[in-house]
Amino acid sequence: MDSKVIYDIFYLLAAILFILGVKLMGHPRTARRGNMFGVLGMTIAIVISIMKANDIMKVNDIMKANEALVSLQPFTLFVIGLCCMIGIFFGAILATRVKMTEMPQLVAVFNGIGGLASVLVAGAALVVATDLFVDEKIATALSGFIGSITFIGSAVAAGKLQELNFFKKGFPLPTFLRHILNLALVCGCGWASYSLLNASSDQAVLLYIAICGFGFVLGYTLTAPIGGADMPVVIALLNSYSGIAASATGFVVGSNILIIAGSLVGASGIILTSLMCVAMNRSLLSVLFGGGKVGVDVDADEVYATVKRTTADDVAMMADMAERVVVVPGYGMAVAQAQNAVSDMADILEARGVTVEYAIHPVAGRMPGHMNVLLAEADVDYEQLKELEEINPTFETVDLAIVLGANDVVNPEARKEGTVISGMPILDVDKAQQVVIIKRSLGPGYAGIPNPLFAQDNASMLFGDGREMIQEIITSLKEL
Ligand code: TAP
Repeated sequence: MDSKVIYDIFYLLAAILFILGVKLMGHPRTARRGNMFGVLGMTIAIVISIMKANDIMKVNDIMKANEALVSLQPFTLFVIGLCCMIGIFFGAILATRVKMTEMPQLVAVFNGIGGLASVLVAGAALVVATDLFVDEKIATALSGFIGSITFIGSAVAAGKLQELNFFKKGFPLPTFLRHILNLALVCGCGWASYSLLNASSDQAVLLYIAICGFGFVLGYTLTAPIGGADMPVVIALLNSYSGIAASATGFVVGSNILIIAGSLVGASGIILTSLMCVAMNRSLLSVLFGGGKVGVDVDADEVYATVKRTTADDVAMMADMAERVVVVPGYGMAVAQAQNAVSDMADILEARGVTVEYAIHPVAGRMPGHMNVLLAEADVDYEQLKELEEINPTFETVDLAIVLGANDVVNPEARKEGTVISGMPILDVDKAQQVVIIKRSLGPGYAGIPNPLFAQDNASMLFGDGREMIQEIITSLKEL
């Protein structure tokens, strides 16, 4: 059989594995298997691409006519292999060493590297091409533009999530001027892309550099003003951009597998973006162009005037007497790494006949599915995890809600007009019979605003690190 056909069969297999992988990742129980399918698909795609490149080099007329180039072939393969090894080495180090709380930054960095790879591959194809068709030139311009926006946008998003000082400053231009600047950059890119269609080879490379330049600046001007609670949407959108850029690059270099893999990332990223927008009650346009939401300043001392403290002993007693306990995890649970302790506490309560559930907000934590991943790690049964729509109508029948390091996602201020989180769906924890909030202080969450839930009549605060407090509750429970 023709080797091209064999390669295409393997590419098809890789594409099927990618699609199955994405499908399996839709459920926490099958996500790990989905990830392995993705790894296998990518390994096949890389190996086949290297074999195909080797074949192309063998039959390439220019190479056949030039002894010096033929002798370069083993060196080229060595360089490709070396680059793969370097990528695998750093990928493995990053994936195993990075803290769970820093995962969103890692995703942003991976998105950015994907965008930069598209810029470089499409650029390299333009440099070596003797004559490109119009559709290939359009795809090249798209790769350069979207890839460079993704690269700088992701770097800014990672810097913001890492809370680096440089990225905290926001953007120095007023919103109106920022829109004008963005429009000018898009027009500049449009002009350079149009000119590229009829340009000579030398001019085409310069125009491509200009397109990427416009994209790099736009990546900064679009992402820098976005802040606070909108960051998850931006990360999901940049993920989608990296896929679209890869897909466009697939058209440039004639790689079907790159087109398929890029489209999958692009489509799943845009679906995630839209789910995030719904979860935070934000329209995509307002996230991208509206800058951060501004709320009225509230005096925290006034809001917290009636806050009550409680102790681990008291919480253990309340939990022991309850019929139904709901744990509401948030970012603080991830920081405290309290997931195993909370699962142990749930086991003790269940052994005493208490029903324990977990209320999961779609943007609790710092990345989509953050709480699901942590609780799955602690072997919490998936059936116990209740989504917002499912659990909200039942909070009035909850005897005790234990809010573990969550803040914004249970802040009733979201129901009012004029706050930074107005309209964001929240978990109706305030409607439970008793609420205990475990956190280290009365400090705010990601959105930076006070939470009147902490001062409600039915609420009390258990101050301390999430894991330590849960362990103290476990000790008290065992003594009851
Ligand atoms: P937050 O509102 O950020 O609140 C987390 C709380 O955890 C803080 O108030 C903090 O209070 C507490 N905490 C920190 N370390 C702790 C520890 N060791 N032990 C106990 N508590 C600790 O979290 P949330 O309710 O999960 O809401 C998520 C927020 O992040 C939303 O505004 C969301 O829009 C945003 N966001 C979400 C994502 C995604 S995709 N999920 C991505 C980026 C941003 P103390 O300091 O007083 O302890």
